Parts: sequence; C-alpha cells; structure tokens
Amino acid sequence: MCGIVGYMGAKNAKDVVLSGLKRLEYRGYDSAGICVVNDEDVNIYKEKGKIKALESLIGDVEIEGTVGIGHTRWATHGAPTQTNAHPHQSYSGRFTLVHNGIIENYQELKDQYVPKVERLSETDTEIIVHLIDAFSQKGYETEDAFRQVLNLLDGSYAIALIDREDTSKIYAAKNKSPLLAGITENGENMVASDATAMIHVTNEFKELRDLEYVVFDRDTLTIKNYDGEIIDRETYTVDWDISSVETGQYDHFMLKEIDEQPTVMRNIISQYQDEDGQLNIGKELDGLSVPRRVHIVACGTSYHAGLVGKSIIENIARIPTEVHIASEYMYANPIIEDDVLFIFISQSGETADSRGVLNQVKEQGHRTLTITNVQGSTLYREADYKLLTHAGPEIAVASTKAYTAQIAVMALFAIYLEAEQNLENNIDMFHELRTISTAMEQLKDMKDKAKDIVDEYLTGVRSCFFIGRQADYNVVIEGALKLKEISYIQAEGYAGGELKHGTIALIEDGTPVFTVITDPQIAKNTRSNAQEVEARGANTCTIVAKGLDREGDAWVLPDVHPLLTPLVSVIPLQLISYYAALQRGCDVDKPRNLAKSVTVE
Ligand code: F6R
Repeated sequence: MCGIVGYMGAKNAKDVVLSGLKRLEYRGYDSAGICVVNDEDVNIYKEKGKIKALESLIGDVEIEGTVGIGHTRWATHGAPTQTNAHPHQSYSGRFTLVHNGIIENYQELKDQYVPKVERLSETDTEIIVHLIDAFSQKGYETEDAFRQVLNLLDGSYAIALIDREDTSKIYAAKNKSPLLAGITENGENMVASDATAMIHVTNEFKELRDLEYVVFDRDTLTIKNYDGEIIDRETYTVDWDISSVETGQYDHFMLKEIDEQPTVMRNIISQYQDEDGQLNIGKELDGLSVPRRVHIVACGTSYHAGLVGKSIIENIARIPTEVHIASEYMYANPIIEDDVLFIFISQSGETADSRGVLNQVKEQGHRTLTITNVQGSTLYREADYKLLTHAGPEIAVASTKAYTAQIAVMALFAIYLEAEQNLENNIDMFHELRTISTAMEQLKDMKDKAKDIVDEYLTGVRSCFFIGRQADYNVVIEGALKLKEISYIQAEGYAGGELKHGTIALIEDGTPVFTVITDPQIAKNTRSNAQEVEARGANTCTIVAKGLDREGDAWVLPDVHPLLTPLVSVIPLQLISYYAALQRGCDVDKPRNLAKSVTVE
C-alpha cells in the first residue's frame, strides 16, 4: 500500500507534495518522507509516524525548490522506522526514489547487479534506486537506466524518481500499484497514487497503465511503454473540487462522508436518469446480454454491499446471484457455469484480492463488470463493463457513503436486468431512492441520539453483538465491522437465529446487543432472539422500522422500500461507530493497522 506524489512546477514543491501526501494518508500512515531539490541541494526529510510528525520534523525550515517527491508508508518490508521510510537514495547519492508496492525479486537483483552495495534500510525499495545508479554508471542515460531497471522488476510498484544531475525531469512508472498523471497548461505537472492528491493543482488527468512509465518536466508529460515507444493517451477531467477532499467544518472525514449520503443518492439519480425520467445506464453496459447467473466478488464493506445487492438482484431481476469474498474465491477452485457475469464491487478499484479474481476469471473467458467509485482505477480499466458509484472521494478509512452508493447502483443495475428480460416492473427505483435520500437526511441529523446510545451502551465495554435476520443480518455485519475497525471494540455481527447455536454462551450481564428489525415477516423472530439474550443479562438496543416499533426501542427508522432498508438502517450503525470511536479517543479517520486501499494480497 503506501501513497506517492511527484511534482514539478512553479510552486513550492514541499507544500504541494505535503498536501498531496496528507490526502494519501489513508493509504498508509506509519512513516512519511519528502525530497525537494533545487539548484544546490537535495533535501530529504523523513520521519516515523504520520505526516504531522514529518511536518514537525521540518518545522520552520524553509525548503526552496519546485521539484519534489514524497511518500506515506504502510510497512511491508522492514519495520516502520525512520531509516525504512522513503525516499531512498542510491549509493552515490545521485538518485532519489519513492515506491509503493513490493518488489518480489529484490534479493536476486541485488545479488546479481549490486552485490557489493551495502543496504542501509530493510526495504525492497532501496534495491531499485541502487540498480538505477548502477546502470547509469555503466553509461546509460537516466531514462534508459530507468527503463532497463523497470524491465528487471518483478512485483508491484508505483515509483517516482529524481536525478540530482538533471532536476528538470521526474521519472515515474507503474505496475499493479495505482499511479495517475495530473497535467496543467500552466507549467505544472505531477503524478500521484490518486486524483485526490493532485486536486489542489489540477483536475485534468491522464491514466497510466501497468508496465508504462512517464517522463515529465514543467511543460510536457510523455507516457511510454517499456520498449520506449510513446503512448498517446486522452486526458480526462474529474468533477471534484478541493472541498470534496477537505474536512471543511467537520472534525473528521468519516462524519462528513456519513452526512454526504443523501447527496450521493441524489447524485446517483441524476447520473443514471435521463430527461424523460428513464434509466440511462445502458450506454455503460452496451452489448451486455442478460447473464444466467451473477457472481459478486468483493472484500470487507464492499462484500457486505454485495450481500445486499444479491437480494435486490434476485428479487427484482430474478437472476440467481452468489456473493464471494475475493481472497477466498481466488483459491477455491470454484465450479463456474456458463454465462456467468462477474461483478466486482470496490470503492477504490485497486483492491488486490479482487483484482486477482478479475484476472483469473477473465483468463477463463467470463464477462466482468466493475462497480467502483474511482474512474480509471485498475478494476475499472480491466473489466469489460463498468458502472461508477459517483460518491465523490471517500477519504476516511472506514467506508460509509461508498457502501450505500454501491447498493444504490446495484439496485439500478437490477432494474436494468429486469427491463432487458421484459419482466414486469413493480418498483419505481428513482422514486424509492429519492425517498431514501430524504430518510437519510432525517437520520444523519439524529447525532445526539447516536451519542446517547454510545454513552448508555458502549461506555467501557470490551465486546458487543449486532443481530438481525435476512436484510437486517446483511446490515448488522457491516455495523459490527464499522464499530470494530474504528473503536477497537470486539463486535460480532450475527444472524439472530444462529446465536443460540453456540455463541450465546458469550452473553453475560451487560453485554450490549444491537438489534436491527425492518422486516415485518421476521420481526417477531428477531424480537424473540433479543429476548433470549436479554434473559441472559444482555443490554439490548433496538433499531427498528416505523410500524414495527415498540415502547423502549432506541431508534425508529423512516419507512422505505423493503428491499432497500439497509440503505437507511446502516446510518444509525455508522453514527454509533463514529461516536464510540470518538468517545474512546481513537483516530477515527485513520484506525490502527489499516489502510484504505488494500493493494497487497
Ligand atoms: C471497511 C472498508 C474495507 C473495504 C475493503 C475493500 O470500512 O473500507 O473493508 O471495504 O478493504 O475495499 P474496496 O472497496 O476499495 O475494494
């Protein structure tokens, strides 16, 4: 994982690179570093910890220079120490490099090409920069030395390189790790792991594909393949602005993103509804015939969205749908029938586990569709068909608005499949999503209720349960994930009826059990499950749909279409998680041990 930035222009490179890195901190935050060059000096600063620690290290030092690279790290090879932090310099001091990814053959390369060079860090990265130096000392021009080395590397990487002898250029390359070029016409160009890290400079981008490199100065940016052939690539514009990547009036991105959900619903409607009010999704899916089966593949929260998507697709489009955890599916040797459509759900579009399955099933000749928030991401590019979730950048590590956006887009996709089969339509999905948006507005404003619930149920506790059945089960496992990842409270999401088959042994006096009830058919059953745990001392907190509520229930949800209840029942769970993390003094947006975009298997 990790994030990288490279900038060349008219502004102070330290400032541009540091603000880019702050937006990439979601990709890793155990150490960080920058290199800024000017006519006289190569200035390298690196520090253990978050970008704030790096900023404190730099303090008031004025670093002049309009060329710079930077890195925020999520350690893979070598502990998160100052020495292992990037940038790394070559043995002669001429080249400086940052790297996101893992070089699998670094030991072989070291033994073969630079056996005598003493490694200063424990990283695989260091070998790349020594190799470039070694090739340049053999007489290669820098670009040729860079290309020679790229051709030797096995593994994943996004790299940016500065040459002290010619600081008018930055070299960058990618394979299986994200990297994007940002371009302007004002004498500034840059690269970064994603668009958010460049949005303060430009909203015009060029996609970089695997096994391509880029050489840029202030005015030109050239993309080439590893044979050195120039590649023409269209520029695209992203309609985000700086406010979408800043917290603004909020203390945390997570709360901002929870609050953005009603707007995201409206945005999705406007993106996928034409002027006549009809579904306008077909152009993205041109040529996609209706499959006999759907397999949804995803990880974490996106997997949870997939579970909700399955029930929507099966109910509306009547197509049998399976949902799989990507990292499990990859090694399962599954029996796949003919005419399956694989749907990959991924906020980032970069998750390595999902990408592994995408590559596998493509090789087997299956059709693929990616539902993602990030245009130009790897899963977006590599799938046959793609649908964007239009949620705007999601910066908090804990996913909130991406989850609801994924479900909403799957609901529209289900309507598309229904229409393609000429099935009778009984649901006006745009109307239902508008209702959802209004319901979300109400729920997001009930923050005091969430705080009170946290005070009453979660103060000082070490573990808790979330229970529900059917659609409510799908949502409680997401609620439990949210709570554990940001508050570090052990939380289990359980199917209400399953608890008594063993796990109920864990219930003791005062154990909090959050119960979600939105389905009239099974409301009574979930109520009984709540009583079973209450009888064993549990402190139950019930979140219930209007009409099914009873006295003493903690939170009553507005009425929405039964297939879409997870879109509203998840909001209280997101808010409860947020305030629980806050109460415990946790770093809400950057929980420990995690990174937003998991680009390693
Ligand atoms: C949890 C969370 C993760 C991601 C998972 C997949 O809040 O965000 O569980 O959902 O790592 O990431 P994407 O959706 O980018 O493929």
